[in-house]
Amino acid sequence: MKTRNVLLAVTGSIAAYKAAELASELVQNDLSVRVILTRGGSRFISPQTFEGITGNLVASDLWGTGAGESAMEHLRLASWAEVLIVAPATADAIARLAGGRSDDLLGASALAFRGPVLIAPAMETNMFTHPATMANLELLTRRGATVIGPESGRLASGSIGSGRMSEPSEIARAVRDALRTSQSLAGRKVLVTAGPTREPIDPVRYIGNRSSGKMGYAVATEAQRRGAEVLLISGPTSLARPTGMEVIEVETSDEMRAAVLHNAPNQAVIVMCAAVADYKPSRASDGKLKRGEAQHIDVTATSDIAAEAARLAPDAVHIGFALESGPLVTAAREKLRRKGQALVVANGITPDHNPFGSETNQVVFVTESGERAFPPATKVEIGRWLWDEIEGILLSRSSTERT
Ligand SMILES: Cc1cc2nc3c(=O)[nH]c(=O)nc-3n(C[C@H](O)[C@H](O)[C@H](O)COP(=O)(O)O)c2cc1C
Repeated sequence: MKTRNVLLAVTGSIAAYKAAELASELVQNDLSVRVILTRGGSRFISPQTFEGITGNLVASDLWGTGAGESAMEHLRLASWAEVLIVAPATADAIARLAGGRSDDLLGASALAFRGPVLIAPAMETNMFTHPATMANLELLTRRGATVIGPESGRLASGSIGSGRMSEPSEIARAVRDALRTSQSLAGRKVLVTAGPTREPIDPVRYIGNRSSGKMGYAVATEAQRRGAEVLLISGPTSLARPTGMEVIEVETSDEMRAAVLHNAPNQAVIVMCAAVADYKPSRASDGKLKRGEAQHIDVTATSDIAAEAARLAPDAVHIGFALESGPLVTAAREKLRRKGQALVVANGITPDHNPFGSETNQVVFVTESGERAFPPATKVEIGRWLWDEIEGILLSRSSTERT
């Protein structure tokens, strides 16, 4: 089996000593490891430690003045690596990555690298929870990076709080996962819908819903991370437009329907994550309605886009989302049958938890034959679980076709 290549960047945190253990575990997993030691990182641990563990020279200098380094080391490393893991990742390194800086070897290599990026932050609680660090991590996550940890516990300063780098064994597991999935959807076309729709009442008012689009964007980003050719059809959201995929922005359920049905043929997977309005005003007023003019709004049912897409593209794997305030699984399975979907992600809405707008959710995957309940998790994590499941469905379909 081909040796897989891991680029480990070690930055200037006291947790740098744990990176030696991580490098050792990766080598024991038969991975080929090269290390970038930043200027800060070299204040905490010596290159010789990593050279001894990995059997490879450590790279530090963008200008290629170190032993065995070429002037184009950042490009060589970026094309050699299959996964980039920054562990420990300082607040400063995270800020540089988020800013797209390339004034050191890590920044330049990260910009030139197109594979999965993992980040394991390590810092004092206040540095970690500072809005600047939080915003930088959120930006990197939206661009497809995976943030591992940090954990809560005793920090180098002696205080207790969150900011401790995750254990090397957990980071190594995430590296193996990233390698497993890094091109697992290569060559597949995937359509994802996200966000709410707005059904106009008049030029200024609409019937809408509280969907933020976060779940659909996470699903689309994860598919892209796995190498799929992604088309995201998005209702109005306040989220940054993801890069590296085609995005069609729509507003009404009719526009969403037209975009989905136009693009449904030829897709391998269609994930309907958007919260499409069930009803729209029968007629939108041309002028702004005055007070007292719209005591009643006549509504018409919108069309069932998911069911139509399933009929139009019967070979695709169709995935739906169901938000229920009653019994979850029965309703989700009924929806799955009615719409011809292979899997429905069911999530509940209770007085204590409204998944709309939240970073986290708790879901149950419902198929014709069973259901699988997951613990509460971030939407990014749920996106990863969902694609693991969809890949299983794709695999079982292709082996059925072969037999
Ligand atoms: C003793 C010491 C410990 C530090 N530990 C951390 C840390 O755990 N996390 C962090 O984000 N920054 C830490 N810093 C600050 C970084 O080392 C500093 O921001 C540096 O510029 C990071 O450079 P680098 O990201 O290129 O490695 C520490 C600094 C010192 C002097």
